[in-house]
Amino acid sequence: MEEKKTILKLENVYKTYMQGGTKTHALNNIDLDIKSGEIVVILGPSGAGKTTLLNVLSGLDSPTSGRILFDGKDIAKYSQMKLTKFRKENLGFIFQTYNLLEHLNVKENVMVGAKLGKSKDNVDEIIEVVGLSNHKKKYMHELSGGEQQRVSIARALAKKPSIMFADEPTGALDEKTGKIVLRTLIEANEKLGTTMIIVTHNPGIAKIGDRVLHVNSGVIDKEIINETRMAPEEIPWG
Ligand SMILES: Nc1ncnc2c1ncn2[C@@H]1O[C@H](COP(=O)(O)OP(=O)(O)OP(=O)(O)O)[C@@H](O)[C@H]1O
Ligand SMILES: [Mg+2]
Repeated sequence: MEEKKTILKLENVYKTYMQGGTKTHALNNIDLDIKSGEIVVILGPSGAGKTTLLNVLSGLDSPTSGRILFDGKDIAKYSQMKLTKFRKENLGFIFQTYNLLEHLNVKENVMVGAKLGKSKDNVDEIIEVVGLSNHKKKYMHELSGGEQQRVSIARALAKKPSIMFADEPTGALDEKTGKIVLRTLIEANEKLGTTMIIVTHNPGIAKIGDRVLHVNSGVIDKEIINETRMAPEEIPWG
């Protein structure tokens, strides 16, 4: 792989909570360098700090101290209003639940995503990438769970985000459907170059990424580089 440029960097990041006079470091001095086009998987036990890490990386939450550099600019210093605008224009989010608009069809849901960003003309192309071209006119109750998750991926992709954040994207899905959703994320990464950061409890999913970060008690205690990405169809489930 050619040398990739850094898109997101954490320097000396702490997230500290005060509880009854004692300090808990949900993030304890994290340094991290995310490269453009990378797929990074974050694994770790419950309470390890995964969601906190994802929220801080994506500007949903601010760190207690440290720097969050996006394209070299420190977003930890941004005001709430500036952060919201930044997220809207640059970042995509998908969650375990899909948060789609029931009264809109597939294409209309994706157009809502496109309106949030700067690009509006690629909706059909995005629907093609997620494999839903034959379902454009369908409403959400006419789709399976996996198809709905692919609509939410399309909606997030439609604004052409530089980075896509996924918190347990297959958490509500069975193995077969979950693997189709992972295939969709891989296609988006390969066709659109979208950087992906995926949080999961499922260690099998680690194999689809370029790099796996094991989070424990607020630190990244192990980092594994995958020489090759395993196809979602080939991974063990759970
Ligand atoms: N608002 C808060 N106030 C106090 N402590 C918090 C708060 N949010 C998180 N924590 C603590 O920070 C630590 C990390 O929480 P986090 O939600 O990041 O874990 P996680 O790895 O995502 O867990 P899970 O796999 O269960 O989702 C936990 O010990 C949690 O109790
Ligand atoms: Mg969590």
